Amino acid sequence: MKNKLKVAVLASGRGSNFQALVRAAAAEDYPAEIRLLIVDNGEAGALGHARENGIEVRVVDCGKRRGSMIPEASQEMYRLCREREIGLVCLAGFMRIVKGRLLDEYEGRMINIHPALLPSFRGLDGQKQALEYGVRYSGCTVHFVDKGVDTGPVIIQKVVPVEQDDTVESLSVRILKEEHRAYPEAVRLFAEGRLALDGKRRVVIDYE
Ligand code: GRF
Repeated sequence: MKNKLKVAVLASGRGSNFQALVRAAAAEDYPAEIRLLIVDNGEAGALGHARENGIEVRVVDCGKRRGSMIPEASQEMYRLCREREIGLVCLAGFMRIVKGRLLDEYEGRMINIHPALLPSFRGLDGQKQALEYGVRYSGCTVHFVDKGVDTGPVIIQKVVPVEQDDTVESLSVRILKEEHRAYPEAVRLFAEGRLALDGKRRVVIDYE
């Protein structure tokens, strides 16, 4: 398949969603290719997966403040993406709020995966928040990134039951399985041009 959408993934940790995207993109008929992995630290597990798969990696120093990024980092990430003609930026366990040049340039072409059914349980530890609240169902959400924290328009959600004896770990495992299905699906829809914004909030999916 020619003219695949070029994707960059931003990650900070384990990298299982990154891996799920790489696996999906290995299929000949998948409309996107994973061209670049950007991490904010040299220990990120995602790095190993990228190297095993021959995907270019860059470590970008985002500054000392947890959860935040310095303007230079945002500028550098934008430069890396522009040079490689990246058409979609996927946040996959990237533990910083994206702002600055990268967001300015890629808003509408940047998506994130969150381990809860937004708008519930935004921010850190979505699975723990759901468990503590006592909801009967939780899941994951793939959404466009905007200036807020997990506030952008929803693309795809997958639901899982919360069992009586769940721990944060067992619930996280159940949700993660769905994350690994949801993210490649969302990237496919984006790459095929099937996502449209209706006004500001609602994403309309063309299933034709
Ligand atoms: C996932 O639960 C994702 O929803 C959240 O961070 C976690 C990243 O896991 N944003 P991994 O690094 O993709 O394995």
